[in-house]
Amino acid sequence: MHYGGDYNPEQWPEETWHEDVRLMQQAGVTMVSLGIFAWSRIQPAEGVFDFAWLDTVIDLLHEGGIAVDLATATASPPPWATTAYPQMLPQDENGATYWPGSRQQFAPASPEYRRLAAELVTALANRYAKHPAVVMWHVNNEYGCHLNYDYSDNAAVAFRAWLAGKYTTIDALNSAWGTDFWSQRYTDFGQIVPPRKAPYSRNPAGELDFKRYTSDTLLSLYLMEKNIIRGAGATQPVTTNFMGAFPPADYWRWAQEMDVITDDCYPDPNDPESFRIAAFARDLMRSLKPDTPWLLMEQATNALNWRPTNAPKSPGQMAALSMQSIARGADGILFFQWRQSRAGSEKFHSAMYPHAGTRTRTWREVVQLGAELAALPQLAVGSRDARVALVFDWENWWAISNPDHPVVLDYLELVQRWYASIHRQHIQVDFVMPESDLSGYTVVVAPHLYLLTEAGAANLIAFAAAGGDLLVTAFSDVVDENDAFRPGGYLTQLGPSLGIWLEDFGALVAPAGTSNTGSSAGENGVPVAIAATLGQVYAPLDGPTGTITGTLLAEEIHLEGAELLGSFSGGRLDEQPAFTVNAVGAGRAYYLATIPDAAGCETVTSYVFEVAGVEPVYAGLPATVEAARRGDTVVLINHGGSAVEIDAIDLDPFAYRFITDDVEA
Ligand code: GLA
Repeated sequence: MHYGGDYNPEQWPEETWHEDVRLMQQAGVTMVSLGIFAWSRIQPAEGVFDFAWLDTVIDLLHEGGIAVDLATATASPPPWATTAYPQMLPQDENGATYWPGSRQQFAPASPEYRRLAAELVTALANRYAKHPAVVMWHVNNEYGCHLNYDYSDNAAVAFRAWLAGKYTTIDALNSAWGTDFWSQRYTDFGQIVPPRKAPYSRNPAGELDFKRYTSDTLLSLYLMEKNIIRGAGATQPVTTNFMGAFPPADYWRWAQEMDVITDDCYPDPNDPESFRIAAFARDLMRSLKPDTPWLLMEQATNALNWRPTNAPKSPGQMAALSMQSIARGADGILFFQWRQSRAGSEKFHSAMYPHAGTRTRTWREVVQLGAELAALPQLAVGSRDARVALVFDWENWWAISNPDHPVVLDYLELVQRWYASIHRQHIQVDFVMPESDLSGYTVVVAPHLYLLTEAGAANLIAFAAAGGDLLVTAFSDVVDENDAFRPGGYLTQLGPSLGIWLEDFGALVAPAGTSNTGSSAGENGVPVAIAATLGQVYAPLDGPTGTITGTLLAEEIHLEGAELLGSFSGGRLDEQPAFTVNAVGAGRAYYLATIPDAAGCETVTSYVFEVAGVEPVYAGLPATVEAARRGDTVVLINHGGSAVEIDAIDLDPFAYRFITDDVEA
């Protein structure tokens, strides 16, 4: 169980380093991430390295019994580098340069950046590969953060090469992108530019490929550094810190290259539901590499500095969110950062050792958490405790985010809505891709899979045929991997198994205040709500009945063998099918022809779970109490502001411990 945080000793004089080690020992710190932004101190000029200070710090930490997650320091090229090689600077879609003076000022495809980063990492890896303090390598920092996409000339050259590698011939690209639309036909790869500012909508397949290129290019930087580290003989695990569900990097693909998954997570204390979104990130991280415990690489002890309002955490909240991570598969709790900065943009950001010192509540909680973590028993490694899987797919996210659709859909927000509905029921869930191994799950919830590959569709159908229960929802199986319709209509792959066909999507006006309000919101007058009545016509079990509110889409579907579970009531589709189920081999395939609100997601999933016989981790808990299982350990966390009473009988026969003061056995 690791405990610690980012350590930036270059911001402090040497006397402070000694104090730091002493205080770290008091707090129970076991590991620090060292030197993440120290490039300009490690390499003051091209070809000149200063390792003396870093040697001293690493030796001090080692003598103090504190392990080092050594950073490669490549996330912020020094001013000498960007001055000598200004062509390494990235550009936005308007061609405006991102100038130095902050961090992440590099174009991922820049040959100059790559050469300088490689030289730095080579020097670091050669020097510290065998140092006994170094237990892990921290490559770069939050790849793609701040600067999600680079549109510079470096990007143009690299994007063309990536496309030529993918398509080989320009005709193949033309065919995949459908470039006969709007006279976009290319005769040479050299004519292609990144999706820079254009008069109107750009080619959607090109947009999609640019997202794939960006994820691959960032990953290639990580792999460049990892290979250098391995080439120097280092055997420690290598990682780079993820940011939950982060659009520019397909973490499913990246996870294969990580020795250990690490994540940075900053739930907003102002949002009483943010613990559920944090749980989403934890479950995603566990699912990316289920057999290896992940690490919470960064969180805040208390307030942040980068939201408009940066509320402090409540007493105990930091411990609750830490234990949430552990319950959901983490074997380490680390923070940004160890010692609060005196200067710079992040001086108001909380830290393990606050600016106001050891008299603070933050410090007391940090020390207490260190002791609690040290006292934890060995927890299961590789938890495969969920019977429910929720599909979350980056390729689909990129494609569904393209413009010019029937309605603007915020895929992440929608998947989080489905996740939260499952979380409120205290049901354990893993994340999967459409193509993942689904054996072992009882229910797969597959929301809004607009882009669905042949392999993904076949896999989902095979899951149901083998006895699983599959829930498919509106705006699924619409396009192929080139963001083009498949011949024959919509739901061409899943339709026969769902026992329906889809005639039209039927956009509704987005509800006020949602993130889905597109440019046409308001033009159609007041929002239209629809209601799907469950169990009205036929239900295999005495499932919940009632109404749900659909939003955004009310699809016009037709039964072709499916049984009706609910109909639209009111509106233009009054009494038309809205919720269906079809027998598929030994299993069932549900289709919901709308996008429910939060309560509707819960009604639908609880119905599907009840039919499938899926049980909660722990029954009868209030919604603010979270339940998660890790192997034979059940963790209950009260995220609410007041004490709750629960019935402990249900805990038998699991090993258990209570982790907040609010809960009494
Ligand atoms: C990110 C970065 C850190 C720091 C924190 C502040 O996670 O990786 O360097 O800036 O944000 O919350």
